[in-house]
Amino acid sequence: MRIGILGTGVLAAALGEGWARAGHEVAIGGRSRVKAETLVGRLGHGVRAVPPREAVVGRDAVLLAVSWDGVEDMLESVRAADGVLDGTPLIDPTNAVAHGVGTLLTGNGESMAARIAGLAPGARVVKAFHLFPAGRWTSPPDGGHSRVTVAMCGDDPAALDVVGELVRDVGGIPATLGALDRVRQLEEVAGFVIGLAFAGFDPNSAVPQVPQVPQDPQVPQVL
Ligand SMILES: NC(=O)c1ccc[n+]([C@@H]2O[C@H](COP(=O)([O-])OP(=O)(O)OC[C@H]3O[C@@H](n4cnc5c(N)ncnc54)[C@H](OP(=O)(O)O)[C@@H]3O)[C@@H](O)[C@H]2O)c1
Repeated sequence: MRIGILGTGVLAAALGEGWARAGHEVAIGGRSRVKAETLVGRLGHGVRAVPPREAVVGRDAVLLAVSWDGVEDMLESVRAADGVLDGTPLIDPTNAVAHGVGTLLTGNGESMAARIAGLAPGARVVKAFHLFPAGRWTSPPDGGHSRVTVAMCGDDPAALDVVGELVRDVGGIPATLGALDRVRQLEEVAGFVIGLAFAGFDPNSAVPQVPQVPQDPQVPQVL
C-alpha cells in the first residue's frame, strides 16, 4: 500500500517502521521538514519525507499521528476541508485525555474521531492504534510477545478492511467494535487505562478474564 503519515513523533516512527518493514511504501509529512527528514534517515526502508499535503494525496491510507490539539492545524495545512482525503481511510490514533488523569478533553460527549471526520470531509475515519504504547509496534510480529487485539471503530467496511490489514502487518489482531457512533467508548478506554496506570494500578488487573464467547451464526455480530 501507499501509506501517508502526518506527524514525526513517537507513533509516526513506530508505525512507519513497522509498515515499511512489512513492505509498504511510506511517506511522512510533518510541520517540521527537518524532523521529517531526520526521522526518515533513521527509519531507512525507503521511507520518504514529503510536504504534509503530499503525504495525503493518492494514498491508500493516512495515519494522523499528531497530538490531539494539533489535529486541526495539521488538517488545515493539508487543506482537508477541500476534500483531499475524500474516500481515503484516515486512521485516528489520538488520545485527547488529561495527562496523568485520563479524563477526556473532548467536551459534551464529542469524540476526536467525529471531530476529525468533520474537519476532513469524505475521509473514511477509522479509530485504531490509540490504546497500545507505540513501542508495541516496533518489534516484528514474531518478536516473542503475544499478539494484541486492536479494537477499531469506523463507518466504512472497506476502510476497516484496509486498516485491519495494517494492524496485522505490525502483529496485531484487528477487531471492529462498531461504527463511529460508538467510538467515544473506545476513546474512554484509553482514559481508563491511563487513569489507573498513573494512580499506581495495573490496568490489566482491572478487567476480568472473560472467556471468549463462541460466535453463534444466528446472532448478529457486533465485532
Ligand atoms: N506515543 C504513543 O505511545 C502513542 C500511542 C497511542 C496513541 N498515541 C497518539 O498518537 C498521537 C501522536 O503521539 P506521539 O507519541 O507520536 O506524539 P509526539 O511524539 O509528541 O509527536 C506529536 C506530533 O504532533 C505534531 N504536532 C503537534 N502539534 C501540532 C500542530 N499544531 N500542527 C502540526 N503538527 C503538530 C508534532 O510536531 P512537532 O514535532 O513539530 O511539534 C509531532 O510531529 C497523539 O495523538 C497520541 O495521543 C500515541
